[in-house]
Amino acid sequence: MQLLLSRYYLIPILLVIGVLYLTTYLLARKSIIRISVHRKIWNLLLLITSAACCLLGLLLVLAMDYGIRIRLPFDMTFWHVEAGIAMGMIAAFHICWHWRYLKVIFQYKRRY
Ligand code: HEM
Repeated sequence: MQLLLSRYYLIPILLVIGVLYLTTYLLARKSIIRISVHRKIWNLLLLITSAACCLLGLLLVLAMDYGIRIRLPFDMTFWHVEAGIAMGMIAAFHICWHWRYLKVIFQYKRRY
């Protein structure tokens, strides 16, 4: 229960994203949507969550270190962290897709 009542919605976000990912993955496996559509959806969500997390993070730095406060009608730290959690989970799926590509790069580096 403690895990669900934390300040940030870590577990609920991970669960919702996990279920949604599984849904679009299964739709693609059953050829209801194309695999390219499944990937487009998650690439777009990765872009949106990264942009939100990074922009809000940069606004927080500007406010904290430079006193430049841009007022937005919501709690910037809260949404920065929520977007960061979502981005982290989607980035993990993204890394899994490109795992072979990354493995080749690291193997190449180790040899030389
Ligand atoms: C461009 C990338 C990022 C920038 C520039 C950035 C910047 C910041 C800044 C300025 C703060 C406030 C620090 C403070 O209160 O002392 C902060 C807090 C935080 N950030 Fe980020 N951040 C980035 C990415 C992320 C990501 C990917 C996550 C993953 C979840 C994350 C999670 C957090 C958390 C948990 C806090 C603490 C919030 C709190 O004090 O309650 N950040 N970040």
